[in-house]
Amino acid sequence: MLPQFMKALKIFPKQAERVQLVDVPVPNIRAGYVLVKVLYAALNRRDQWIREGKYPRIQEAILGSDACGVVVEATDTDKHWLNKEVLINPNNLWGDDPRHQSADYHILGMPTEGTFAEYVCVPTDRIQRKPIHLTAAEASALPLGGLTAYRAVFTHGQVQEGTRTLITGVGGGVAQFAFQFAKAAGAATYATSGDEAKIAQIQKMGAKAVFNYKNAAWLEELAKEASQLDVIVDSAGGEQFAELVKVLGRSGRLVFYGATNGLPSKIDLHRMFFNQISIHGSTMGNDHEFTDMLDFVTEKKIKPVISSVRPFEEIISALDEMKQGKQFGKLVVEMKLT
Ligand SMILES: NC(=O)c1ccc[n+]([C@@H]2O[C@H](COP(=O)([O-])OP(=O)(O)OC[C@H]3O[C@@H](n4cnc5c(N)ncnc54)[C@H](OP(=O)(O)O)[C@@H]3O)[C@@H](O)[C@H]2O)c1
Repeated sequence: MLPQFMKALKIFPKQAERVQLVDVPVPNIRAGYVLVKVLYAALNRRDQWIREGKYPRIQEAILGSDACGVVVEATDTDKHWLNKEVLINPNNLWGDDPRHQSADYHILGMPTEGTFAEYVCVPTDRIQRKPIHLTAAEASALPLGGLTAYRAVFTHGQVQEGTRTLITGVGGGVAQFAFQFAKAAGAATYATSGDEAKIAQIQKMGAKAVFNYKNAAWLEELAKEASQLDVIVDSAGGEQFAELVKVLGRSGRLVFYGATNGLPSKIDLHRMFFNQISIHGSTMGNDHEFTDMLDFVTEKKIKPVISSVRPFEEIISALDEMKQGKQFGKLVVEMKLT
C-alpha cells in the first residue's frame, strides 16, 4: 500500500527560500508510465543553477534528474517492470535527429517533476535496468553526467585508443566520467584540477599527467609534457578556454558542454584555421547514446566517483557543497527518512 504523501525538494522561484523540502502527493501513474520508489538520487550542477535562478524558464517543480530506484507501480503492459531496480534516462523528447535535440526537448526535474522525492513517475521508455556491477547509490550517479561525458568524449571527441586527450576540471561530476571513459577507451589521458587532493586521486586512477590550473605556469607545463593534444574536453569556459587552443595539435577538437566560468573575451582564430582546429558544443545526448553509454560502462566495469552519500533530509547542504566545489565526483542522497 503506497502512502498518500511523500517528501520532495521543490523549487519555488518566487519565494525567498527558493528550495524547500515539502510534503506533496505521491504521483498517480497513467498508461505508459511507471512509478519508481527512489532509493538514491544524485545531484547535478543543473540543480544548483536552477536554485540560483541561473537557468531558463524556471517554474515550480520537484528538482532532480538522476536516480536509481525500484518500480512499484505499472499498468498492464508494463507489469514485467515491477520490483526491478532501474535507473532513469533524464532526456525527454530528444527527437529524430541524432545530431541535436528537438525544440520540445526537456530534462527530468524542472519542468517535469524530478527525482528528489520518495517517488517519481516517468514514461516507461525512460527506465533501464541497473547495471549489475553498480550498487544502487553508484547507479543513481550515472545517467546525466555519464551521458554528457559519453557524447563529449566519443560522439564529438571521437576518442579512441591512443588519442591524446585532456579532461579539464577533472573533479567535476561530468569530468570524472569523461576521464574514465577516455581512459577505458585506451586514450592517453591527461587532466587538470584546481585541488591537490583531487590531483593525487586522479593520478592514482591512471592519468598520464595532471596539472593544477591554479598554478600560473600550468599551461607551459602542459605544453612541455603533452603538446599537440588531439582532444580537450572542457566545461569551465572563461578566459582559459582560449588558452586551451594553444595546446591542441593539427585537427585538434575542443569539446565543451558547459561554461561554468563564463565566456572568453577573444579566441585565436588564426591558430584555429591554420591548424584545422574545431570547437564542438555538446549537451547530454540522444537515447542511442544513453544505451551505448550504459553498455560501455557495463563492459568496462566503470564506477562513478562518489564524493559522499547523505540522508535526503540533508540535500540542501549537498547543494551548498556543490556550490563551493569541494567535492570530487558525485554527491548522492539516500531516500531513507528518519
Ligand atoms: N550541456 C549539458 O548537457 C550539461 C550537462 C552537465 C553539465 N553541464 C554543465 O557543465 C558544467 C560542469 O557540470 P558538473 O555537473 O560536472 O559540475 P561540478 O561537479 O560542479 O564540477 C565543476 C568543476 O569545474 C571545474 N573547474 C572550475 N573552475 C575551473 C577552471 N578554471 N578550469 C578547469 N576546471 C575548472 C572544477 O574542477 P576541479 O574540482 O577539478 O578543480 C569543478 O569540480 C556546469 O556548468 C554544468 O551546468 C552541462
